[in-house]
Amino acid sequence: MPVGFTQHSLGSRIDQQLSAFLESWRAPVSDPDVEVAYKVLNEFVLGGGKRVRPQLCYWGWRGAGGDDCEEIIKAAAALELCHAGLLIHDDIMDGSELRRGRSTVHKSLERLHAGPGAQVFGQAGGILLGTLSLAWSDAMLSSCGVDPPRLRAAHRVFDAMRTEVISGQYLDMLAQLRAGASVDEALTVIRYKTAKYTVERPLQIGGALAGGDPGLLESYSRFGVPLGEAFQLRDDVLGTFGSAAETGKSALDDLREGKHTVLVAHALRRATPAQREHLRRWHGDPELGEERAAELRQILLDTGAVAKVEDMIEHRVREAVTALAEADIKPEAASALTVLADRLAHRTR
Ligand code: IPE
Ligand code: IPE
Ligand code: MG
Ligand code: MG
Repeated sequence: MPVGFTQHSLGSRIDQQLSAFLESWRAPVSDPDVEVAYKVLNEFVLGGGKRVRPQLCYWGWRGAGGDDCEEIIKAAAALELCHAGLLIHDDIMDGSELRRGRSTVHKSLERLHAGPGAQVFGQAGGILLGTLSLAWSDAMLSSCGVDPPRLRAAHRVFDAMRTEVISGQYLDMLAQLRAGASVDEALTVIRYKTAKYTVERPLQIGGALAGGDPGLLESYSRFGVPLGEAFQLRDDVLGTFGSAAETGKSALDDLREGKHTVLVAHALRRATPAQREHLRRWHGDPELGEERAAELRQILLDTGAVAKVEDMIEHRVREAVTALAEADIKPEAASALTVLADRLAHRTR
């Protein structure tokens, strides 16, 4: 069975659950402008995204012996509402204009209400819609219909996940101020803002919902953390070298934002004094143009930072696949997760 980001039946069942849930939460006030804001949120949630976390949650459940049913699809889809809220907030924090190949939510809201206060309005509206989406994810998980004791166990993992990702996002913002973060510091950021949040915890939430024992949840962690790190390392490479058509995000965002990725930390560590000076001067310039961006990309290549990150990705994928082979999980889930691991690390479709 082909399993990928767009594995049709699973993806469309997740989307059906999302759309039914969103349909059940109409704007409580009849004001056309509020209704438009709800529509912006719905279109953001339903209009794109690889559904990585719901898929992992589903396979976490199946790996623990859970049968295919709509309860797990609904629980898994709830993670996508959490993700949507985090992305909306992240795009405000990062000043990003493009997400999933479209205008970010705060930029869409800004355009809806042109005028002097439009920018502040867009950001305030984005904070509200992101918070609404986060709140709905909790409501959706809580109403998925899985037995209460298992749901409570999964909810504790969900609580940990939200605490970790928000702490990781905070660390990410701090790293912008702490110029020249080390490789280790950059790795800590991605462990919290991405690895645990994207792979480890969604698998464990699925596993806990199915009543998986602590040994199983631990093996999901041994698989999920290295794979999640590989996923973010790939995202960092694509974020600087990929095209907007591939990533749905601008290839200038990370450079303009001066993001202290593992990639940049490696480049700084290996740079000649002239290269280091060039990086310090231009990395993080909000007005950075294509020409300067090309120079920065060349430094990332010439210092060997890109090759180093590619090595790190491969190392982590091997570690994850080995952990999976040693895990006591259902064979169908093991093969689906092996395919997903490759897709997450290499972003093949
Ligand atoms: C983006 O996640 C944020 C990261 C942690 C890299 P995804 O790459 O899963 O984003 P969508 O949901 O497919 O847009
Ligand atoms: C990541 O979003 C936000 C999270 C949900 C943790 P991006 O895809 O924009 O990745 P960053 O901002 O570069 O980390
Ligand atoms: Mg961002
Ligand atoms: Mg960010």
